[in-house]
Formats: sequence, structure tokens, C-alpha cells
Amino acid sequence: MTDLFAKLTAYGQSDYYPYHMPGHKRQAMGALVPELARMDITEIDGFDNLHEPTGILLEAEKQTARLYGASESFWLINGSTCGILSAISTAVPKGGHILMARNCHRAAYHAAYLRELQVTYLYPEQEDVFPIYRGISAHQVSRALAKEPDIRAVLIVSPTYEGRISEVKEIADVVHAHGIPLIVDEAHGAHLGFHRACAPNSNQCGADLVIHSVHKTLPAMTQTALLHVNGPLIDRNLLKRFLKIYQSSSPSYVLMASIGNTMQLLEQRGAQLFEDFIRKYAGLVEAVEKCRVLRFLPMDSVQDPGKLVILCPDRYIDREGDVRQGISGQQLYDILRDRFHLQPEMAAGNFCLAMFTLADVQEGYTRMRDALLTMDAELYRGVLQAQGHTPSMTMEQVRKVLSIKATQAKALKDAWDSPTQWVPLQEAVGRMAGEFINLYPPGVPILVPGEEITMELIEAVESYCRMQLTVQGIRKQEDMTLLSVLSE
Ligand SMILES: Cc1ncc(COP(=O)(O)O)c(C=O)c1O
Repeated sequence: MTDLFAKLTAYGQSDYYPYHMPGHKRQAMGALVPELARMDITEIDGFDNLHEPTGILLEAEKQTARLYGASESFWLINGSTCGILSAISTAVPKGGHILMARNCHRAAYHAAYLRELQVTYLYPEQEDVFPIYRGISAHQVSRALAKEPDIRAVLIVSPTYEGRISEVKEIADVVHAHGIPLIVDEAHGAHLGFHRACAPNSNQCGADLVIHSVHKTLPAMTQTALLHVNGPLIDRNLLKRFLKIYQSSSPSYVLMASIGNTMQLLEQRGAQLFEDFIRKYAGLVEAVEKCRVLRFLPMDSVQDPGKLVILCPDRYIDREGDVRQGISGQQLYDILRDRFHLQPEMAAGNFCLAMFTLADVQEGYTRMRDALLTMDAELYRGVLQAQGHTPSMTMEQVRKVLSIKATQAKALKDAWDSPTQWVPLQEAVGRMAGEFINLYPPGVPILVPGEEITMELIEAVESYCRMQLTVQGIRKQEDMTLLSVLSE
């Protein structure tokens, strides 16, 4: 693998004086970290140009493509966000029709808005025990495409934030039978395909465009990502045009060096690092599966190793045989953070999520295992001290919210540009949403601009707020919660 990192390090130690940007001139002024400042250059001789690569960056991108089994790969320094924007803008003509999973990241909705797309949603089904979305099935895609013959591309998220993996290969076959491309937002799966315990990556499954956040599940710096392209359905020149539009014209060499460093690690030590990671993670899952109250998603073929989903049921039987009320996802999260000093990734209504990658040290596994076994034993004995709000929604109620299919009264492209006003929650019933309402993280929309606001959606927003989860797109005014609606 081309070693951009080493080349930048050597350059930083050389006697070339910089009469160019960035303005720090490779000096660690103020609190700037010297190693980073020395490495942070612009497109000077010998360092290529990410937007028109012909040298070291082109070679590195080619090596990335080989590593991931893609026909072409692009390094991204504006996260998967710019990869999703570029992929959708390329795959669907302006004003065209896209079929996309409802649990897509907001970047997908932003692309639909910018490119004035018509959107049809695929609502994932739900898991049996856990109130979370499953992956998308090929059958669902096939049914949706049969109903809407003018769809120009399909977009799914796999793995999901919680680690659920879709039938990508089967979906690719269905989508290709319609002569259109499949885009997979695999932001959470840059590590896929490197070990037999992980699913193959979506390039290996036949997807046309695949987006990876290197920074999410591999040892790389925030904002680093990849976009891969395969097959004959994608116009490469158009893709490059959109990458120029959505990426900075001053790509950070620090971030690019970080991508290069990760690619090199995967190439040179990937097999051993993944073997070690999977062994430690499987050991953790095996240990915590002995819990009597807490529940974990099993490490099966549709669950991405590394995403530990920790759930406390609404009700459970304690040691005395009495029925007790469980604790909420936020309470699980707070106990792990405040008492055990373990910072989880996120809390949802009934579960919390802890992420593991190949960078975790043994201490990370041991401390999580011990904390979960301790909490479980205390729950079982009925002595766990939990602060804050108990669940105000049962798992059944969360399921009901996840199953709501909003009605699009006005297209996103028109609605988001329309005049809006803020009204109290209860007065919003029957109106059209003026803003996205998202539960964060990961930011899956409860409501999209232009969708009809129903009583059950308002009740869902109220419940999420009561559980102290972060609902984006609302406003608090004194004791009131306000929603943005389209003006009448
Ligand atoms: C499913 C999914 N896709 C895309 C993104 C955006 O990724 P990035 O932060 O690399 O821009 C996220 C971020 O959380 C995500 O969860």
C-alpha cells in the first residue's frame, strides 16, 4: 500500500520551507499539535490532488479498491455524508424517483431534497424480541419495484446502526433485474468482508455504489470515508462531478493520511487483527449471555459483530419470583457511564448500544463484561439503583411507533421550501410537518417535511421527550413543545 503517512512524515521533517497554505505554515502555534501541523499540507508537488488524482492518491485509491473488491474506490474526507449525497445524485436523474429505506441517514433525505426527487419508502420489518428494525429483504424490494416501475435506483442501509444486515446479494439481483442500480449505505460496515464472522461487504454482493465510514468501525479519524463503484450502471464522470461539488476543495492531508494508515493496517495486519477482535468480542457475548435479566442480540449471521445491543425488558421476574419493572435504555446508559465510567455509543427507549472495534484493548471487554454482570445481578436481586426516568413506553409501544407509516401529503422537495410556523404539539395534529423530526442518534426521521402529523406521531414525540431522548427538530418554549408545520 502506498504510504502517504510515511511520505507526509518525511516531508514534515525536511527543510522545504512552505510559502503556501495552510496558514499555520507547519508550525505548532498556540495549542496546535506539532505532529499534525507538520503533516497538514496542501496540494504541493509530489502529493497529488484528491479531485484529479494521478499519482500517490490515485495509486492509494486503486489499492483500496483491490482491498474491498470494488472496481473503483474514492477516498472521502467529508464523511459518508458526502458519499451518500454523491451516490444518490449520480444514480438518480434530477426529479427522478428513488426507493429508499426509511431508516436512511439524513444525508439521503438531503440528496432527495437537493435533486428534487420523488421518494418511495421501504419500511423495514422489526425484530421479534428487540424493538429495532430488521435488515431489508429482497422480497420487500421486489414488491416495491413491481408497484412503481419508474424507480431509478434503490438505497438501503446495511448494517443498521444496531448492526442488522440486509440480504444485499439477493437485493442486488432483484434491483439489477429491473436494470437499475443498488446503493448501499454501509457507513457502519467498513470492516465487513475481512473475517468469516463478518458478512461480506456490499461490493462483494454486487451493489453498484457502496459507502463506508472508515472512521466509524475502523481505527481512523473522524470524517474519513470511502465510496466504491461497481458495474456498468453508474456514470463515473458524473460521480466525480458530484464528489467535487460535495467535498471540500481543500481536502485534509491529515485525514487522507489516516485513511491510508487504516488501509495499510488492513492489508498488512488485517487477518490477525480481525481474528483477535472476533475472538475477544465472541468471548464477551458468551459471558454476558449468561445474564438473567439483561438481553443481547445474538452473534448470528445477520448481526454485525461489534455492535452490542443491551436491552432490559419492560418486566422481569426477580430472584424472589416477583415481577419487577425493567429500566430504560437511558438508565442503562447512565449507569454504565456514571458508575462504571464506560461511555456507550447511544441510548434508545429500551436499550443502549456499546460499540467494539479491532482497536479495543482487553480492558474494554473486561470492564464491560464485569459491569453488565454486576448490573444484571443487582437487577435480579432487585437492588439496582437507577436514577432518572423509568421507561415511559413499553417495548410494545415502541414497536407501534416504529410501525407507523407516515403519509406524504406534499413532496419533500416542495414542503421544505414552503413557509412554516411553530405551533404547540397538540395543535399540530392534522397539519403537515415543516421540519424533519428525528430521534438522535442515529437520526432516523419520525416525520419528514410534507408528511401528515397524526395524533399517534404526537404521542410518540411526547413519549420520547419524557424518556429524555434527543428529539431533533422540535422547540421548547417554557413548558411547551412546539412543532414546525406548513403555514396554511
Ligand atoms: C447509516 C449512516 N449513514 C451515514 C452516516 C453519515 O456518516 P458520516 O458521519 O461519516 O458522514 C451515518 C452517521 O451516523 C449513519 O449512521
